[in-house]
Amino acid sequence: MAGTGVGAATAALALMCVVLATPSAAAAHVLDLHALQRATNMKIVRLSDGSEAVADPKKPQVPPRFQSSIMAIANDFPEGEGLFFYDLENKNAMYNTSRLEPITSYTLNTSFYYLPDVMYYVANDVCKPIRDGTFYDMFDWVRSSKTKYQGKLQIDGRTCDQWLFVAPTATLTMCTDGNTPVLQSVYSDSTKTSQSFVFHKDFAPHPDPFDKSIFDPPHECNETPEVCPGPEEVETLDAYIFHPKNTTGDIVNQDVADLLGDVVFICTDALSNHTSQDQYEYVSHYKIDVVNKWGQYEQCNGYPGACIGDQLPPVGREASFGIKTRGGQCTNNTDVGSWFSLPESGLCPPGEKLSLANNCTWRINTRVKTIDGKCLLKDQGMLQSCVKEAHVPFPRTTEILVKAFKHDDKKKGGCPNVI
Ligand SMILES: *[C@@H]1O[C@H](CO)[C@@H](O)[C@H](O)[C@H]1NC(C)=O
Ligand SMILES: *[C@@H]1O[C@H](CO)[C@@H](O)[C@H](O)[C@H]1NC(C)=O
Ligand SMILES: *[C@@H]1O[C@H](CO)[C@@H](O)[C@H](O)[C@H]1NC(C)=O
Ligand SMILES: *[C@@H]1O[C@H](CO)[C@@H](O)[C@H](O)[C@H]1NC(C)=O
Ligand SMILES: *[C@@H]1O[C@H](CO)[C@@H](O)[C@H](O)[C@H]1NC(C)=O
Ligand SMILES: *[C@@H]1O[C@H](CO)[C@@H](O)[C@H](O)[C@H]1NC(C)=O
Repeated sequence: MAGTGVGAATAALALMCVVLATPSAAAAHVLDLHALQRATNMKIVRLSDGSEAVADPKKPQVPPRFQSSIMAIANDFPEGEGLFFYDLENKNAMYNTSRLEPITSYTLNTSFYYLPDVMYYVANDVCKPIRDGTFYDMFDWVRSSKTKYQGKLQIDGRTCDQWLFVAPTATLTMCTDGNTPVLQSVYSDSTKTSQSFVFHKDFAPHPDPFDKSIFDPPHECNETPEVCPGPEEVETLDAYIFHPKNTTGDIVNQDVADLLGDVVFICTDALSNHTSQDQYEYVSHYKIDVVNKWGQYEQCNGYPGACIGDQLPPVGREASFGIKTRGGQCTNNTDVGSWFSLPESGLCPPGEKLSLANNCTWRINTRVKTIDGKCLLKDQGMLQSCVKEAHVPFPRTTEILVKAFKHDDKKKGGCPNVI
């Protein structure tokens, strides 16, 4: 386990307004039409590159208030279908999505609220504030003199004009049919994450104000997250993490997973080609002593780790992808695996008693072994097995992971310790 996915994408979005304030020359991250086609399952064709145009088409002026059904895509993963509501005048926007998560067959409902002073991300009734995120004008950059015309695309049978804006740490793309957006995409260089929306044909300006309740975040957003009920015990967790070579031993403000949770994570990450981008070169197995009064799971990314959430001391827990009730913080997740977040605020110094009252919620017992990701994924065939099984409970794939850590001998399915 290690950070990726939705959390990272929200970080990209939160960064956008900061990024846009300082346009200058920078490298463009070209929109990967093949990856987008795979994620959306739509036919996407480049009709022209803009060089043949005698004059650029008129720049679009996206309506300041609209409603549309959408498909959302984060880091080339489909986030699902939903509705988008946008109100520039009142600085309110929200969108929601629902999707059947393919490798577990559970449904994940998400919604994002972009409000004048705050931004929230809600997934299966778990709400997290996104730090520094607020409403921003998603479309005004297209009118900048630095925005370049890129020619015509055809997306799901709809022809549109593509526009590109390259900022120092982000690349923005939009494809519009007149004033109607068909595609909007942001890539953040600093977080290496992307977020795209396809606006479906029902996109419509909304001349009348929206019912205000549309932008009211659910009650969870105004409540401090609680720990799970039940007796407090210290247990030793077998935890796995995929990580860069030079961060072995650093699991503060990182996400880890139990065995099945890590199989689900690695298979998802590897199948989307994220593994190479993320430089997740090694996999480590730890025994971690934890206080089992679980708190809200936080998505953590990068080194040193940065997490999305309230940064409270309890060890965070969720079902893989947060697909169960209240994210699976307190549910039995043996069927889909569990993910855990290890907050710096709960790190227990040596000699101190592990207890929630002390804010001493976890410490490393031992790092059992660290292996090379290539040995696991390629040599021992975990990646191929991921593709073949494609769905929990991944019995063969799990066995490959177990053997890789159990043995050092490659002939026995093992991978040697690399540290
Ligand atoms: C999105 O929100 C709208 C309006 O609140 C609601 O009618 C719809 O069911 C929601 N859709 C999803 C996918 O959650
Ligand atoms: C997701 O939303 C759908 C439609 O709004 C609802 O029927 C379903 O119970 C929700 N699922 C979860 C896990 O919240
Ligand atoms: C690890 O290596 C990367 C480049 O390979 C570097 O950017 C980063 O600062 C290094 N991190 C640490 C903790 O040494
Ligand atoms: C991953 O990369 C390989 C080789 O570059 C490519 O063939 C494959 O289609 C990619 N898969 C995804 C899901 O992007
Ligand atoms: C969790 O569910 C599994 C079956 O899915 C069951 O075998 C196990 O005993 C349950 N664990 C707890 C702690 O209830
Ligand atoms: C534990 O952490 C919470 C939240 O960060 C803080 O309010 C509380 O004062 C801390 N308690 C102790 C004993 O340090």
